[in-house]
Amino acid sequence: MGKGFYISKHLAIAAVLLAAAALATIVALSIVYSKEKAKKSHQVSDGPTSRMPPTTPLSNEPWDKYRLPNTLKPQFYNISLWPRLSIDAKGMYVFTGSSGVAFTCEKETDLIIIHCHKLNLTLFDGRHAKLTGMQGATAPAIKKTWFQLETQYLVVQLKGRLKPGKAYWLYTEFRGELADDLQGFYRSEYEEDGVKKVVAITQMQATYARKAFPCFDEPAMKAIFHITLIHEPGTIALSNSRDVDTESLQMDGIDVIKTVFEPTKTMSTYLVAFVVSDFTYTSKQTDSKDVMVRIWARQKAIGEGQGDYALSITQPILKFFEKYYSTNYPLSKSDQIALPDFNAGAMENWGLVTYRETSLLYDPKTSANGNKQRIVIVVSHELAHMWFGNLVTLKWWNDLWLNEGFASYVEYLGADYAEPTWNIKDQIILYDIYRAFAVDSLVSSHPLSCKEEEVNKPAEISQMFNTISYSKGAAVLRMLSEFLTEPIFAKGLSTYLNQFAYGNSVYSDLWDHLQKAVEKTPHLKLPHRVHDIMNRWILQMGFPVVTIDTQTGNVSQKHFLLEPNSVVERPSEFNYEWFIPIKWMKKGVEQDQLWLLQKSAVHKPMKVSRGDWVLANTNVSGYYRVNYDPENWERLLKQLSSNHQVIPLINRAQILDDAFNLARASIINITLALRTTKYLSLEREYIPWEAALRNLNSLFLLFDRSEVYGPMQAYLRKQVKPLFDHFASVTENWATVPPGHNDQFSQIIALSLACKTGVQGCRELTKTWFRQWMQDPNNNEIHPNLRSTVYCYAIATGGVEEWDFTWKMFKKATVAAEAVKLRAALSCTREPWLLNRFLEYTLDPNKIRKQDATSTIGAIASNVVGQPLAWNFVRARWEYLFKEYGVGSFSFSSLISDITSRFCTTFELNQLKQFQMDNADVGFGSGTQALHQAVEKTKAKIKWLEENKKQVLQWFISQSA
Ligand SMILES: *[C@@H]1O[C@H](CO)[C@@H](O)[C@H](O)[C@H]1NC(C)=O
Ligand SMILES: *[C@@H]1O[C@H](CO)[C@@H](O)[C@H](O)[C@H]1NC(C)=O
Ligand SMILES: *[C@@H]1O[C@H](CO)[C@@H](O)[C@H](O)[C@H]1NC(C)=O
Ligand SMILES: [Zn+2]
Repeated sequence: MGKGFYISKHLAIAAVLLAAAALATIVALSIVYSKEKAKKSHQVSDGPTSRMPPTTPLSNEPWDKYRLPNTLKPQFYNISLWPRLSIDAKGMYVFTGSSGVAFTCEKETDLIIIHCHKLNLTLFDGRHAKLTGMQGATAPAIKKTWFQLETQYLVVQLKGRLKPGKAYWLYTEFRGELADDLQGFYRSEYEEDGVKKVVAITQMQATYARKAFPCFDEPAMKAIFHITLIHEPGTIALSNSRDVDTESLQMDGIDVIKTVFEPTKTMSTYLVAFVVSDFTYTSKQTDSKDVMVRIWARQKAIGEGQGDYALSITQPILKFFEKYYSTNYPLSKSDQIALPDFNAGAMENWGLVTYRETSLLYDPKTSANGNKQRIVIVVSHELAHMWFGNLVTLKWWNDLWLNEGFASYVEYLGADYAEPTWNIKDQIILYDIYRAFAVDSLVSSHPLSCKEEEVNKPAEISQMFNTISYSKGAAVLRMLSEFLTEPIFAKGLSTYLNQFAYGNSVYSDLWDHLQKAVEKTPHLKLPHRVHDIMNRWILQMGFPVVTIDTQTGNVSQKHFLLEPNSVVERPSEFNYEWFIPIKWMKKGVEQDQLWLLQKSAVHKPMKVSRGDWVLANTNVSGYYRVNYDPENWERLLKQLSSNHQVIPLINRAQILDDAFNLARASIINITLALRTTKYLSLEREYIPWEAALRNLNSLFLLFDRSEVYGPMQAYLRKQVKPLFDHFASVTENWATVPPGHNDQFSQIIALSLACKTGVQGCRELTKTWFRQWMQDPNNNEIHPNLRSTVYCYAIATGGVEEWDFTWKMFKKATVAAEAVKLRAALSCTREPWLLNRFLEYTLDPNKIRKQDATSTIGAIASNVVGQPLAWNFVRARWEYLFKEYGVGSFSFSSLISDITSRFCTTFELNQLKQFQMDNADVGFGSGTQALHQAVEKTKAKIKWLEENKKQVLQWFISQSA
């Protein structure tokens, strides 16, 4: 998951923050995507229970198993909760509540095992619950009740047995802490006009509903929820369904409002949500047949129109998915709410989606086009789940990849419908496929799908929320949709949704339906069943590199590994061979798709005569890399430098990215990869430049502390100058931004790379703009798109004055996206004392919000001066950081990859190993895998540098001569 040498999900942020040099390029996308795929990561800080696996095996008693027994089935819950938005006499924020669950007995038992975590249950006659029979059944008396902490159960042991087919009612009353731990029912604090405000909100996925009310907390235990919220006058309560009744009354002598909600549809516990706040909303319902759509946020944000963009795209996206799935939106309303303190990027609670502010609020005055893009993507992702995930839910968390991979694929389709001029579908290459390649080319990767019995504990469930599930899932589903064609994919999808609506499924159910759709389409010929093709992509880790020898037409495949000597220990029933669909073109003309079904095969059409070239994996619709014989590479390079537009846009990026990665894996010569960047002086498009930048950034991380740095800078300065001049001329010398969405991204790259490499005039430009702002702080005239670059650059070249000014602006910022840019820029200074001071700030939640702490440390580490400081900082405070962020947090694993991203010497490897040993007793939680990857990557880099550094240096010198 590291960035640095390898491409990864975090490269974007690395790019932005590349130290003083401030390769602030992707700005927009930086922060944007840094959390994007961490949509559902959670921080856990609940001490010993969820820390490490227990050392002694648990017993065979049902309450010691992490999975519920199949004896009981919930029907509905009646839940009433009252969160207190101010502290009680003991200085605590609490909520009180009651919950009853009606369940039927499926198998005779004398035990009721139900999830319940950290709730203080009221005793009734010395028992933690009351049990009654329903519909004439008589309930046996309770023998005893107790908590099973490790498995997070309330156990109710009965004197008699529950009878199959009978229904019962289990009732509890409880009190819980409304902590600021971002899990279950929790509180979020923020300041508005100098007043501290508190919001009560929920994050149930994956295993936190049990922290809000006792429940059968597994996705297949679907039920109907009748929810009532008690709240203070002046606040609004929201939940999954519409409110049907509100009344004012007194409880415990206090004036309160009681809001009762419609019963929900049959749904999983992890999708339950409630919010109590003084937020307001913006809404639009032009047609009474439309679902009610509302965007909720802080009053000020709504007042400033920050919800308008999200509102304008929601209805179109819902319409798109209704059509795509051939299924109506299942609910009568769609609320989306932006929260000031939210760990995940967003959460798809059914009917009440929660977002970070940056994922939902758009302020045209201060937000960049990248911020806008993030919103349309995240909204589309979450709305896609309303059907896929919420209406039909995977049976267990081992199939999470299908839920998340699917949403991560179709998010581009929904976004494209809402913003048809953006060509946003192409960006899946950058933000999912390359990201997946990066982690999936390591031996420490893992298959998409794992067995149900391998995923049990909450910590194991959280680990499923990773790049492989999201991005590789998206990549292989896109490949599937491409070779089936979209209409057939959508047809199978719709019958699948129809069959499993309000129920649960496993991944092979989707294959069944797609296969049926294929069989009904006589003209579509697949070489194998959908199952047989797809299982090779989901049951074995990794992906192939396809090698095409255009001299003979020989096409072969091999498991692609970044470290060629690494040993694959994980066995595969398919021997790391895949059934590979190959779309390809010959000299710019598309050819018939081929299938590679063996290790190698001769495909005559791929044998070409002199002067022709072959390009395979058109639009990177397949999840694999491509290599060619040297002659074909030469012909592709020649085509790029003579008329690059003959090669499709996505494939220009692919040529660069495949070449660099093949060189990293020592499959091709690094000089060949470097030569793919020569045509860039002609390139004006975003996607190829972005692909190039990421690979160059990896080189920067390897070389920005070495003698290669100077010649490399000189070469890149030469390459980016034409792009810089181009935008200077189309924007009246930077007075405007270009109209095209992707051109705006290119413009950002032009400015940032030019400043980074010292193109004449660039640094002066950013300095002047920033100075103007400092002189008139209420009047920031820097274009939002360019702000990240300009801020970062000004800080890097400035001193404490610029830093303190930016800090002040950061603390004052009322738009989250602006605050993110300012915070990122603060890590760009080259002054060690400022960097150290900033590191210390991350420990103080009043200075840096808890949700931003690890990403701030990571940002500092991506600065060449900050890197050793951040490494020392993290080592010195590991125990504390672990306690605060350790288990289940996605950003936590990126912290490890961030601080180790430059490691490429034996000395650093030893330090890393020492760190691993020193903290073995504390542990690494969700960063465990990232740590293994860091070790693997560092080793690979050491070896690679030995073999390649000299050539890289010579090549850059030869080019800048
Ligand atoms: C095709 O290439 C593969 C991999 O290099 C090789 O093992 C195989 O023998 C080749 N086949 C032919 C017919 O040349
Ligand atoms: C490749 O992508 C472009 C733009 O997204 C599209 O116009 C073209 O049809 C695609 N080509 C293939 C072979 O899928
Ligand atoms: C890579 O190419 C360069 C220049 O053509 C050559 O000097 C070098 O030996 C090659 N390296 C390898 C590992 O083949
Ligand atoms: Zn999702």
